[in-house]
Amino acid sequence: MARRKLIAGNWKMNGLRTGGLALAGDLATRLGLEAAAGFDMLVCPPATLVASVAEAVRGSAIAVGGQDCHAREKGAHTGDISAEMLRDAGASHVILGHSERRQDHGEDDATVRAKAEAALRAGLVAVVCVGETRAERDAGRAEAVVAAQIAGSLPAGADAGNTVVAYEPVWAIGTGLTPTAEQVQAMHAFIRAEVAKKVASAGALRILYGGSVKPSNAAELLGLPDVDGALVGGASLVADDFWAIAVTCR
Ligand code: 13P
Repeated sequence: MARRKLIAGNWKMNGLRTGGLALAGDLATRLGLEAAAGFDMLVCPPATLVASVAEAVRGSAIAVGGQDCHAREKGAHTGDISAEMLRDAGASHVILGHSERRQDHGEDDATVRAKAEAALRAGLVAVVCVGETRAERDAGRAEAVVAAQIAGSLPAGADAGNTVVAYEPVWAIGTGLTPTAEQVQAMHAFIRAEVAKKVASAGALRILYGGSVKPSNAAELLGLPDVDGALVGGASLVADDFWAIAVTCR
């Protein structure tokens, strides 16, 4: 099953107007010069920049996403943003269940699933994150943890067009550490089999790897059979690095 690669940047809580718009504009220019890019590109700026980045890349092939949304469409939820608001601001995707939100905000699988269902309701693609901690991997529980996250977090109605899964081992995020290529491939194949229990089109659904992806390891990771793209944190803040990662998929 041929799956087009998706190179996604999660800017996290980084980026003010000037630098963020310059970064997005730089990427849009590079993508525009690419005759027939063999990959899709997504940038997920902080909520304050979603609308202006969407405006800056309009007419380019770059998609824009949020980093979280509320499960409800609107109402008395001070500080929150709905999927409909992201869509209205020009987003087409939203990251949900990132480990930093699971940790910092106590989001459990049911919360993530409700948010992912809100994303689908609003017409956004849900990028659902899963991944084990170092302690869980050392205890031999990585697959069990990820299986439970898949079972609990994937939205009802998920299919290959409206949902992406991102495998992000917590211990690989921002640490410079990555699992071996064999470990990544094994986990991605396992995730696809778990997704197939719920989703008929699992063979076409994109599974991204995230956690210390950089230009020097991108070709190896993105060349694995069940790795359909990358969710990049730190390296997505530097146009040269993010681009160098993307063009390994040319
Ligand atoms: P780093 O690429 O900085 O390790 O972050 C990965 C990540 O959390 C992307 O969502």
